[in-house]
Amino acid sequence: MKILGIESSCDETSAAVVENGRKIISNVVFSQNSLHRPFRGVVPEIASRAHLERINMVLDAALKQASLKGFPKNRSKKRSVDAIAVTVGPGLAGSLLGGRMAAEALGWAWGKPVIGVNHLEAHLLSPLLETPSLRPPFLGLIVSGGHTDLVLVKDFGKFEVIGRTRDDAAGESFDKVAKLLGLNYPGGPEIDERAKRGNPQSIPFPRPHLHGSWDFSFSGLKTAVFYYLRDRKFMKGDSRQTNDVAASFQAAVVEVLVSKAFLAAKKLNVEKIVLGGGVAANSELRARFLSEGRKKNVKIFLPSPSLCTDNAAMVALAGYFKWKKQSFSREMKGADRRLTIDPSLPIRGW
Ligand code: KG4
Ligand code: ZN
Repeated sequence: MKILGIESSCDETSAAVVENGRKIISNVVFSQNSLHRPFRGVVPEIASRAHLERINMVLDAALKQASLKGFPKNRSKKRSVDAIAVTVGPGLAGSLLGGRMAAEALGWAWGKPVIGVNHLEAHLLSPLLETPSLRPPFLGLIVSGGHTDLVLVKDFGKFEVIGRTRDDAAGESFDKVAKLLGLNYPGGPEIDERAKRGNPQSIPFPRPHLHGSWDFSFSGLKTAVFYYLRDRKFMKGDSRQTNDVAASFQAAVVEVLVSKAFLAAKKLNVEKIVLGGGVAANSELRARFLSEGRKKNVKIFLPSPSLCTDNAAMVALAGYFKWKKQSFSREMKGADRRLTIDPSLPIRGW
């Protein structure tokens, strides 16, 4: 069973074909980083226009790489997908619309069902693309540009969000601190690289633990970096100071994420932690999770860095699980095969 996944929730336009929820046949990602770089953050209006400009090209490339008939001639049964999965939220409204319109149009033209996918659920399931044996229960930590959520995954489709950020998301704080340091957008990979050359113990930035809650808070840490730079009369381009601030800031974020996730795993008696979202590509975060996991006997599941950031393969995978779970076949026999299944998670305050 082949599913065409479409992702356009933020600033990556992506299409992928995934077979039986595990084999990635194609996964084309068109990043908009260069468009947003001058603004050091995602500009929603630019993002939504760029999705519209690129979506057909990206879809065509993903279908051709999968040796399937390209858009719109996908009539041949042998060379077509069985369903289309598309991110329906959370995300930027205009961006989401671009992907969703493409999915609905193709579903209509090809007579294939369209499956709505929750972007965060897709991030949580993404390690399954490389480790198909992974089974719930597990604790999921989604750390991206828009989210920092600690989620107890009781079963496929059964989630309980136990903690989330009260202000900035982890990725957002990386992007904002990078901006303060005069680094490029997206800030996460820049800080990751600079931190390798800095001393993580040089500046004792606060560790916002919010004891007694599984929630996170990163805006105070960002403000601490702001005041530190202001008081030291930091000059952009001072590479020694940039590296030390990057390393010390990153150490604070990583410490909070690691300690909270392992504490929650212990309290909730789960032996597996899954990471997802762009910040899960951070080299220090990955190393710390793996070393703590070995010490504490907790299995850690990390998608490859290219599957941590937004991509359509994870959307196709999440769509496959929905396909398997829903009483799909009965409805499929109806005249209207253009079926949009609601994501299992409510999008708002999921
Ligand atoms: O999951 P994602 O691609 O998009 C959202 O759903 O937000 O995450 C993007 C975020 C950005 O904030 C980016 O700076 C961050 O992930 N990021 C990183 C790294 N690579 C991407 N943060 C820290 N270290 C990295 N290596
Ligand atoms: Zn994401």
